[in-house]
This record gives sequence, structure tokens and C-alpha cells, in this order.
Amino acid sequence: MSRHRELRSHRLRLRPLEATDEERIVELMGERAVTRFLLYFTYPINPQQVHIWLQNVLGLQPEHCAYWAIVDQKKNLLIGITSLTLDPHNQKGEIGYWLDKSYWGKGLMTEAIWQVIHYSFDELKLHRLDLTHMVGNIASQRVAEKLGFQLEGCWREGHCKDGGFRDVKIYGMLAVDYLRAKKRFGEVS
Ligand SMILES: CC(C)(COP(=O)(O)OP(=O)(O)OC[C@H]1O[C@@H](n2cnc3c(N)ncnc32)[C@H](O)[C@@H]1OP(=O)(O)O)[C@@H](O)C(=O)NCCC(=O)NCCS
Repeated sequence: MSRHRELRSHRLRLRPLEATDEERIVELMGERAVTRFLLYFTYPINPQQVHIWLQNVLGLQPEHCAYWAIVDQKKNLLIGITSLTLDPHNQKGEIGYWLDKSYWGKGLMTEAIWQVIHYSFDELKLHRLDLTHMVGNIASQRVAEKLGFQLEGCWREGHCKDGGFRDVKIYGMLAVDYLRAKKRFGEVS
């Protein structure tokens, strides 16, 4: 499989992550609210941890995942990251995301993930997408709901964060749900 392609929406460009993004990622991870519900990053952020994470991510094969820098088209500035972890045997992918706090509440992540969903079903021909968030992450819950993910259950104390176990809500979107979501967004008649 070749490198995952760039995606575009009205306001955003989703381009493959690069080693030169490290400094900007460290800067954005310096905001406590961004890391509050993230599994692998804890405040205060350690730049060396970001370096190791990024090198690991850049070494992964496209068969196993895609990582995109979410770029504000107008400013040509990295404002977040989204990932798609692939499970080829089950034709499944899991979506992850985070955004610069100063860009929250403008519908940007919903816009970005809608493009990842398009790509997942239309081009990668996936059968299913997974999305999870820790209980209490209302913004992430709203992103899942607005996009048409179905709530399927909860992993009790499924993630360990900041020394405590947190319940995790689990969502899924099947290819048939995607068709329904497209109709709702007026993209098919
Ligand atoms: C989750 C996150 C990516 C959302 O990005 P965003 O661009 O602000 O998302 P959107 O604007 O598309 O949608 C957010 C929705 O949550 C709502 N929301 C946010 N905080 C809320 C709160 N405390 N109570 C109620 N609704 C809330 C917003 O009003 C919006 O819903 P609406 O469009 O119905 O009004 C962003 O908050 C973030 O980066 N959080 C930190 C990292 C993180 O938690 N990542 C996800 C891990 S699963």
C-alpha cells in the first residue's frame, strides 16, 4: 500500500504528518486541556516523549495506520492531528484526534473527521470504523454524535489516565451507517 493521500475540506487540509511537525506538536501539547482526555500524553508534556512518539508514528506502515496533520488552510498552520489505525483482516479502522484549544467549538474536528470517514469507506473500502472517548469528554462525544456514530457500549475502567481508571464510551460506524449519514448531510439523494 502506498502512502495515504492528502485530504481537504472547506477550511482544512489534512496532510501526512512529517518529522518537521515536532516543534509545533510540543507547543500545542503544552496546553493542559488538550491532553486531559488523551491516552498517551500527560501534562506537563515531555518533549522527548513527543519525539519518540513521532519517530514511532512515522515508521509505521500505511497498511497499519494513517496520521494526518490538520492544517488551517488560510494560515497554513498545523492545528491538530487525526489518526486512522487500521485492522485489515476485519476491514476496520479506529479514529483518533485532537485540536489546538484556540480552535475548539468551530465545528473544525467534525469537518476534518467527515473527510477521514469519506476516505475510509469510499477509498479504503472499510466495513467499520471505531471511535472511543473517556466518559466526561463531552466535546468528543458531540463529534461522534454529529457524524452519525452509534453508541455501542462502555468499557468499564477501560483506560488508565493520570493514575486512575476511566470508563470509556465506544462507538461504531458501519458502511451502511455511512450511507445514512451521507443522506443526512445531503450528499446523496
Ligand atoms: C474533542 C475535540 C477534538 C473537538 O474539536 P472541535 O473542533 O471543538 O469539535 P466541534 O466544534 O466539531 O464539535 C464540538 C461539539 O462539542 C460541544 N461541546 C464542547 N464542549 C462542551 C461541553 N462542555 N458541554 C456541551 N457541549 C460541548 C460543542 O458545542 C460542539 O457541539 P455543537 O456543534 O453541537 O455545538 C477538541 O475538544 C479537543 O481537541 N479536545 C482535546 C483532545 C481530545 O479530547 N481528543 C479526543 C480524544 S477521544
